[in-house]
Amino acid sequence: GAPVEVDISKLEPGQLIRVEWRGKPVWVINRTPKMLEQMKAHEGQLRDPQSEEPQQLDSAKNEYRSKRPEIFVAVGICTHLGCSPSFLNGGFGEYVEGTESGFFCPCHGSKFDMAGRVFQAVPAPLNLEIPPYTFIDDTTILVG
Ligand code: FES
Repeated sequence: GAPVEVDISKLEPGQLIRVEWRGKPVWVINRTPKMLEQMKAHEGQLRDPQSEEPQQLDSAKNEYRSKRPEIFVAVGICTHLGCSPSFLNGGFGEYVEGTESGFFCPCHGSKFDMAGRVFQAVPAPLNLEIPPYTFIDDTTILVG
């Protein structure tokens, strides 16, 4: 599959856009300062908070799992059995207290935070996959 260009010039804070890369859904999200702040509150509840799993790309091995703190790029496929998790911006507190936004997989209840980090005690074994990507300029990402 060819790399995919994503224009993020109109991506509002809190918004998600979905593109397709190699037949997979890829999400690009402009995370708000509040989302970034709330991610810190539940570190102790995560399975692999620092993304130390060996299959992770180096660009995913930081607290935000991204090249720019606010811009999150991830493959939107649950690491359990491949369903597509829902992005809950508001309403995620029903699943994880103290945080408003995250990803919830409707198939078997896996929960991921705004960096795609999986919570403990859910079926998904791994954090969401971060695809290779680069910033071509300030408002354009190349995925792949
Ligand atoms: Fe997502 Fe099973 S496929 S929890």
